[in-house]
Amino acid sequence: MNALQEIKGHFATALAQLTGDPGPLLAMIRPTQDGKFGDYQANCAMPLAKQLGKAPREIAADLVASVELSDLCETIEVAGPGFINLTLKDSWLTRQLAAAQQDERLGIENAQTPRTVVVDYSSPNVAKPMHVGHIRSTVIGAALANIHRFLGHRVITDNHLGDWGTQFGMIIYGYKHFVDAAAYRKEPVSELSRLYKYVRVLMDYHSAVRKLPEAREALEKMQLAQERVSATEASGKSEIKQKKKDISRLNEKIAAQTEVIEGLAGTIEKVKADAALLSVANEHAAVGQAVLDETVRLHSGNPQNREYWDEFLPYCLEDINRLYDRLGVRFDYILGESFYHDQLGPVVEDFIERDLARESDGAICVFLDGYEAPMIIRKKDGAYLYPTTDLATIQHRVSEWQADTMLYVVDHRQGDHFDKLFDAARLWGYTDVEMTHVSFGTVLGDDGTPFKTRAGDTVGLEGLLDEAESRALAVAKAQNPDLEEGRQAEIGRVVGIGALKYADLSQNRSSDYKFSYDKMLALRGNTATYLQYANARVHGILRNMNVSVESLRGADGELIFAEPVERQMAIQLLRFSEALDDVLVDYKPNLLCNYLFDLAQLFARFFDQCPVKDAGSVELQQSRLKLCDLTARTLTTGLDLLGIEALDRI
Ligand code: ARG
Repeated sequence: MNALQEIKGHFATALAQLTGDPGPLLAMIRPTQDGKFGDYQANCAMPLAKQLGKAPREIAADLVASVELSDLCETIEVAGPGFINLTLKDSWLTRQLAAAQQDERLGIENAQTPRTVVVDYSSPNVAKPMHVGHIRSTVIGAALANIHRFLGHRVITDNHLGDWGTQFGMIIYGYKHFVDAAAYRKEPVSELSRLYKYVRVLMDYHSAVRKLPEAREALEKMQLAQERVSATEASGKSEIKQKKKDISRLNEKIAAQTEVIEGLAGTIEKVKADAALLSVANEHAAVGQAVLDETVRLHSGNPQNREYWDEFLPYCLEDINRLYDRLGVRFDYILGESFYHDQLGPVVEDFIERDLARESDGAICVFLDGYEAPMIIRKKDGAYLYPTTDLATIQHRVSEWQADTMLYVVDHRQGDHFDKLFDAARLWGYTDVEMTHVSFGTVLGDDGTPFKTRAGDTVGLEGLLDEAESRALAVAKAQNPDLEEGRQAEIGRVVGIGALKYADLSQNRSSDYKFSYDKMLALRGNTATYLQYANARVHGILRNMNVSVESLRGADGELIFAEPVERQMAIQLLRFSEALDDVLVDYKPNLLCNYLFDLAQLFARFFDQCPVKDAGSVELQQSRLKLCDLTARTLTTGLDLLGIEALDRI
């Protein structure tokens, strides 16, 4: 049961008699932050009064008189300038929770109009080691898929692997020139990964050598400009202000450019410091072009490169599957870019035939309103691009799976790509499908810049999981030194992985966030660890009192609200379904995290103020046990939807 939906439903009828467009007004009915104002508050009388040219309190009174909520609400009162405060009836509340208690789904109803939702997430470029950035897409995508599914939508998860790009050109080139055959036989995955990194170093070196002089020239120009501006006379307040502004803007540019130059020089230095590497780099001066050539040969069906690809791909998949297993993530489909290869030609032809794309400088382009540059779908040399594959993917998802919604959980830097892609797809006729880029920010280190290792490399995902687990193990040992080792390791795994996922999910996804092991594993605060410990504590109460949860759930008897916190808990438990709905409005799993955190905090207060064993009466004890059981089930279900395991005992 969803109280908010129920209330909105009744208001919708009442509002429809006063206005043609009740939608935005209904959105103004919300849970209250403060119990003083009841449990829910409707703020729609004020704007409606404005529309109708009447007094807000009068409209509020009309609404109160015409909504029929006597079953649900104890009181509906007009307050202040025209707020409507609604307080739920305790008897109604208890009835709902009794029903939740007996229901496997905690009383949460399925969506009235189920949709087919395709979630495109994780989607790493294989053959490169997965890094910290991949965790965001993987955990956010998995949570959104779980929540949609739980609410009765048909969900198809699809890992759109980058399995057809230049990185294969790189490992083919690497394999041909640098493979250590014995190492490859023994541990193919790590040898391929070494080859990838090795070729990357060579390519980056040559690209840095090429770019450095231009970068230095650009810096000199900026410095000259800065000197010129500094030397100009400025008189009067506004001129001085403008001059200051110009100088500071130029200084910022200079600082950024200096960093670029340092980066390039560092890349060159690293190679130069290693004489053997430098000589290899010099022998492979054309590595960049050669890698592109290998990629083109793969795409055009060269049998040898195709054979290499067939051989390498399973190793790459083995590598990422190990991580997915550790993260407990599964996909319904793993249709990588390679899957669409044969459809790219026909997609481009179709665009041309329908006059939606045309040639420009030899390339085939889709010109879209509102963008400076067109979307290129076939390059001059005949190669297809990332957007071409994505167009074929949309076609596939709609024709094969009848997708109503497609969610792309991909980092914010691809915003422009998706804006164009969706516009092009709509032009192509996909107007009835919702396509949303569920974008997310960057994972930052302590210093506020993108999270890197000390050596300046991206942080590998595997090492991250290892570290989180071993730190969680230390926490578990400190909390419970006598626990048997196997159990401790299990707790380390569940708490470590849970902390890592939750640290990510609990952030507003569009912001960058700072990665910190200490914060994510803190026993207090909005962390998975806090929720997992709270859940285990509730189980501890039930266990210590030898409660049979089956008979508890079947038992009659009203909830008793002896202390205010008990009623607050009941309301919060009832709001689980609202929290899940909220997540899907803007695809924000952090709203579920906030909800669970609030619930766990309320439980902590309840635990302090409301003795269970010594409740004083059998009825009150029973009522408190029911609240405990519902709390544990809500925490466990909520964590499960976030892809996080809960333990009965920690
Ligand atoms: N492989 C891409 C990358 O790592 C992400 C793919 C996202 N999904 C998509 N349909 N474009 O950047």
